Amino acid sequence: MQSSTILPLVAVSIMIAFLPASTVQAGAMDPGEMLSASCAGCHGTDGHSPGAIPDISGKSADFIRISLQDFRSGERESTVMGRQAKGYSDEEIRLIAEYFGQQK
Ligand code: HEC
Repeated sequence: MQSSTILPLVAVSIMIAFLPASTVQAGAMDPGEMLSASCAGCHGTDGHSPGAIPDISGKSADFIRISLQDFRSGERESTVMGRQAKGYSDEEIRLIAEYFGQQK
């Protein structure tokens, strides 16, 4: 290989080496916030639902956690939340609940 082909390769590998660091910095978002992004499609940003779907902003972390666990187990009837909640582990539900619990 000639040095003219090696140099760009070195530059690219240096860039790749630095990628994870910048990704982590951009990811200063907490995991609960990241997980809760998938709820926003229906419940609105930070749970402020603009439409017919229940507003979950200002609810306590316990309320969110217990609701999700009951939807997941089927103890609480739902049209869509049972299917939504099945996608989350106990730990993820805890993180999501903590995040929503902090929203006003
Ligand atoms: C596809 C739309 C949709 C998504 C996505 C969704 N929800 Fe729901 N959510 C609903 C609907 C509709 C209800 C009313 C219960 C039902 O019929 O399922 C509900 C009800 C709830 C309730 C009960 C509210 C109350 O006042 O009793 C909570 C808590 C809740 N959702 C939390 C969440 C969380 C947390 C997420 C993200 C992990 C989420 N939802 C994602 C549509 C959605």
